[in-house]
Amino acid sequence: MKVADRMESIPFSGIRKIFEEVMRREKAGEEIIHLNIGRPDFDTPAHIKEAAKKALDEGKVHYSSNYGIPQLREALADKLQRENQMSYDPGEIIVTVGGNEAVFIAMMGLLDAGDEVLIPDPCWLNYFYCVQMAGGVPVSVPARQEHQFTPSIDDFRSRVTDKTKMIVINTPNNPTGAVYSTESLQALAQLAEEKDLYVLSDEIYEKMVFDGHRHVSFGSLPGMKDRTVTVSGFAKNYSMTGWRLGFVAASPVAISAMVRIHQYVTICATSFAQWGAVAALNGPQDDVAHMIAEFGRRGALVSSALQEMPGIQVAKPAGTFYIFPSITETGKSSQEMAEYLLDEAKIAVVPGHVFGDYGEGFIRLSYANSYENLEKAMASMHKALQKL
Ligand SMILES: Cc1ncc(COP(=O)(O)O)c(C=O)c1O
Repeated sequence: MKVADRMESIPFSGIRKIFEEVMRREKAGEEIIHLNIGRPDFDTPAHIKEAAKKALDEGKVHYSSNYGIPQLREALADKLQRENQMSYDPGEIIVTVGGNEAVFIAMMGLLDAGDEVLIPDPCWLNYFYCVQMAGGVPVSVPARQEHQFTPSIDDFRSRVTDKTKMIVINTPNNPTGAVYSTESLQALAQLAEEKDLYVLSDEIYEKMVFDGHRHVSFGSLPGMKDRTVTVSGFAKNYSMTGWRLGFVAASPVAISAMVRIHQYVTICATSFAQWGAVAALNGPQDDVAHMIAEFGRRGALVSSALQEMPGIQVAKPAGTFYIFPSITETGKSSQEMAEYLLDEAKIAVVPGHVFGDYGEGFIRLSYANSYENLEKAMASMHKALQKL
């Protein structure tokens, strides 16, 4: 029996393929250091777990409102005001099953067949596939290393057509670690206004910024709130990837479209997990601060080690827990380099091509691993590159 035509262009995640090869080798007894992981290596803070356990014990085990429990939407509205300088009413927020679902319902709710969406490349490839599943057309906009991986406004502008409906931005950025400057966001705001475009702003790494870099929410720029779809979540900032909790905040019209998709796909996010998220937002933030300080320390270690390696071009990351060095001078493709490092240095990295055409010539290293393992990994990577 035939499946839907639309699935022909939707592959399995490229990152999964690496994972499978690493698992095969580990089963065979090889010791591999994982620099391929897209999740914090910290436990969820204890008070968040306690709040979810309490909710379970109190019988909060039933469906919640499609939008999420009111207490969480209120806590999110407060957080968006306090931390992001955006005024959303709790009714303009949907609690979703991860940032993933938020992106999916945004594309399904806002795009018509043939609508074009400008997406910085390299990027988290889910944007491409969610656009395609919604019948839209993803359009790559190069995010170049020499411009701190922020696409220039001219590169965005030259790709706008009368079919363009949306721009996607993700800052702080997976895979590059870039944090967009206020000036670049302002230029984008002008373009969005001029061409009447939605801007989906994925801020899932919003707290992970280092060294004086500042995260600015696109929806906080003057006049942008109604055209912005803000996506974020708990996975990265609170080390809650397995809890599957995210959210989307947008104008009432956009929310009304998105909540109908959400309603028919998931009904609501897990109810007792939502009580954990209330504790995450309203409780102490020391664990988060500790985790981010540690990512800053590790990012400094990894970037200075990489800068000493032959054939590598890299700057200190501004945010997230990823670093995206260029490897073009080694003469290897990103796939060849990932395989070489797995063989020679026993480290797992993700080849840049997995993140789009403009990711070729780079590899992504995640420093969601212990400082000691990162020191070991950098030493063996250095040795491996010297052999080339
Ligand atoms: C840029 C970006 N956005 C969204 C997500 C989705 O996060 P989750 O669905 O776990 O909340 C990820 C996960 O890796 C990501 O890297």
